[in-house]
Amino acid sequence: MAKPRVLATHRLFQPARTILQEHCDAEYWEKPERPPREEVLRRVKDKEALICLLTEKVNEELLQAAPKVKIAANVAVGFDNIDVAACTKRGVVATNTPGVLDETTADFAWTLLMAVARRLGEGEALARSGKWKGWDLDQLVGTDVWGKTLGIVGFGRIGRAVARRASGFQMKVIYTDAVRPTPEVEKELRVEFRDMNALLAESDFISIHTPLLAETRGLFNAEKFERMKRTAFLINTSRGPVVDEAALVTALENGKIAGAALDVFEKEPAIHPGLKRPNVVLAPHMASASLETRTKMASMAAENVVAVFKGRRPANVLNPEVLKG
Ligand code: GLV
Repeated sequence: MAKPRVLATHRLFQPARTILQEHCDAEYWEKPERPPREEVLRRVKDKEALICLLTEKVNEELLQAAPKVKIAANVAVGFDNIDVAACTKRGVVATNTPGVLDETTADFAWTLLMAVARRLGEGEALARSGKWKGWDLDQLVGTDVWGKTLGIVGFGRIGRAVARRASGFQMKVIYTDAVRPTPEVEKELRVEFRDMNALLAESDFISIHTPLLAETRGLFNAEKFERMKRTAFLINTSRGPVVDEAALVTALENGKIAGAALDVFEKEPAIHPGLKRPNVVLAPHMASASLETRTKMASMAAENVVAVFKGRRPANVLNPEVLKG
């Protein structure tokens, strides 16, 4: 019997290819640059599964072009690129890759936090410039991290992994989320709940870990920046549109907050020119980018596809109602 045909819009990593090889006939987009949309639409026509990155929109247009597709497997935990309702309507299983990237993403949120507090971007630029004149008492003085208050917005797996890392820095950790963990979990993680306004007023560093949903789009707006300390820093490794970039630029220009460190942007790969300031650390959406983690993410997507073809329930289904009955 012919193996089911899969389109992967990336060459993936070898372990993922090995998983697919046995069960599927996989076609990969092998080029380093992202595939043009027309190319994805053309190639997906005769495929029964799609493995895609967060840069691909899995919407009505794509689903219409892919009448045989049974599963759209995102190689990302965030799935705002997938119209899950449209997938459900067509009986297409949608999956993501939760769990495997929490620690790596939390590491990077801390990388950004420390880089912006301690002015690493500016220091690195000076060290490379040939203009460094040597040690000076007030050169590149930043802000202490240890002993400060860290506010975590969105207390899911990644938010909690960020919280765990704070204890070595003797920080007070507060969080806000619609869903509160049990008092035991709060105690174990040494965190305290705050409502959003209290968190904004109290935090020296605010790290965002919410998914992008209708309710979180533009969550960090002018009003939120107004409520933050003028000495506070904003760190975002979630999704760009959770922050209103124009409002952030205005807040930075007016000294409403001390700085920001951003891994994600409203209209990637474009970056608002007003963010290219010394007190903003910029990274190109790389928080989960360790070889170990990206390999696991690709393998998890491959396993999700194989599960569907084997008649098993994939581990990470976003629309379980498709599998009922
Ligand atoms: C990366 O941004 C992800 O959602 O996995």
